[in-house]
Amino acid sequence: MADGLYERIFELAKRRGFLYPSFEPYGGAAGFYDYGPLGAQLKAGIENLFRRIFVVEEGCAEISCPAVTVEEVFVASGHVAKFDDPVVRCQNCRSPFRADHLIEEAGYKGNAALLKNEEIDALAKKLGVKCKNCGGPFGAAYRQNLMFKTEIGPGSGKVGYLRPETAQGIFVDYPYLYRYFREQLPFGVCQIGRAYRNEISPRQGVLRLREFNQMEVEVFIDPQKLTHAKFARVQGTRLRFLPKASKEIVEMTIGDAVAKGVVANEALAYYLVLVDRLLTQAGIDPKRLRFRQHEDDEKAHYARDTWDAEFQSERFGWVECVGIADRSAYDLTQHAKLSGTPMRAVRRYETPQKREVVQVRSVPAKLGPLFKKEAGAVTAALLALPADRAEAAAAAKEVEVIVDGRKVTVPRAAYDVVRETVTVAGDDYVPNVIEPSFGVDRILYAVLEHSYVETTKEGEAYTVLRLPLAMAPMQVGVFPLMPKDGLDAVALDLLHKLQAAGLRALYDESGAIGRRYARMDEVGTPYCVTVDYDSLKDQSATVRERDSTKQERVRFTDLVDHLRRRFSPFRDS
Ligand code: GAP
Repeated sequence: MADGLYERIFELAKRRGFLYPSFEPYGGAAGFYDYGPLGAQLKAGIENLFRRIFVVEEGCAEISCPAVTVEEVFVASGHVAKFDDPVVRCQNCRSPFRADHLIEEAGYKGNAALLKNEEIDALAKKLGVKCKNCGGPFGAAYRQNLMFKTEIGPGSGKVGYLRPETAQGIFVDYPYLYRYFREQLPFGVCQIGRAYRNEISPRQGVLRLREFNQMEVEVFIDPQKLTHAKFARVQGTRLRFLPKASKEIVEMTIGDAVAKGVVANEALAYYLVLVDRLLTQAGIDPKRLRFRQHEDDEKAHYARDTWDAEFQSERFGWVECVGIADRSAYDLTQHAKLSGTPMRAVRRYETPQKREVVQVRSVPAKLGPLFKKEAGAVTAALLALPADRAEAAAAAKEVEVIVDGRKVTVPRAAYDVVRETVTVAGDDYVPNVIEPSFGVDRILYAVLEHSYVETTKEGEAYTVLRLPLAMAPMQVGVFPLMPKDGLDAVALDLLHKLQAAGLRALYDESGAIGRRYARMDEVGTPYCVTVDYDSLKDQSATVRERDSTKQERVRFTDLVDHLRRRFSPFRDS
């Protein structure tokens, strides 16, 4: 038997077709895993549960955007400038390491990712940090951007990046989505897809990957309404919280957490409950799950409040698998600023009102050649000028606007000042965003670890994967007691009927029946159907249940319904 629990789970995952290290015949590559036949099904189970909760029950819209993304998007989001980690490289064997991780492991108590490179160098020296591979000394710390860079169109020089999160595609599509939802907030949009981060030194199996799977939801809300229409329904849900600056987990209802100010607002709190529901229904043990609040120096500067859902793992301790952030108006403000496309919503009046507006509008024929790539952003900045500045601009020779933090002077010929009476439906504002961001791969690993049960049977080690029914990659095993005397033909006929009814069923005729049950238990198959000699007489089979190992006789004619009823409808298709 392999050493630790983590190794034993990975051995099973590899042997039985959940996870394979990618590119193994070519020596492999850290940070990449393939999902084998059962792993791909388990992953689909997690994604379907996400769709069930967010798309079906919450009415979110699911969209799908390209992974290759133009550079401007990540300039606006801040990823080009700031999405980096501190790195040190061994001067002896050249291995790279996350400098912040090394320093924290060596005893530094703060958040080392916030330190400047010189501070990291000084601390590494003081703490005597050495290369984990060869014990060699490190060179100076530097910052490494984590995005994979590419070129869009050969020889075009147009820079693109593989997206490091699926979220940005949703923000960029906001104007379309606002119209799709008939200009009514709040609304939620989600995306399931691959994300890419060129992690410095991924050494944690599927927990830190260079290509991974996210399921993200962006809920667009009015910042004056930080409530949730369905909060009353969930307020009694008990969660385990680790609030910032505290050392102990406290269990309380989400209603109390909002009332006591532990969670910033109802809108955010509602999504903590949905995250808890998804994780526990997927098979994460509620006693090994907690919601940890980000410390003030840990959360993004624009975030009002951020929580991580963390599961407890034997090898890695508490591991983040979902981030739930109140991102304020940051994302849409940034994209509006950089693209020049308005990203706003209207808070409607009861009856529309007439109003005189003064606006500064660009003269594209003059402004375009002057500002080229920036013309869109300059146009948006002109339009955004308040009425008093627009009035002043009419008589001035030029007007000054701020574009991407810089002062830009626009000559009078490149803009017009337009005065008109318009009908105003309401006040317009930049929507705020609540974002639950799920990492599928980490959830999948947590589900495997928390479902994995080792027992003994007749003196031998015996493993059962107690997956929730909705997660089971294979739903039914079908066996003939012996592969002869017509038992095999009957079993195959039952198999085909179960498959036609939409159940994932597997036929197995090899080895002793106990071995076949064991193979199914090990991959979490909830039911096995055995055809024996009595079956030929009474037209019934034995149905065995995985966790209780209870067996019952079920008539062939009832078998499909008997099993279908046990699986929740959203996993049947
Ligand atoms: N849009 C917000 C966002 O991407 P994040 O906390 O960086 O937030 C969200 O990522 C989730 O994605 C994490 O909670 C984690 O489960 C998963 N994740 C992030 N980086 C990962 C990596 N390198 N390998 C596997 N999963 C990762």
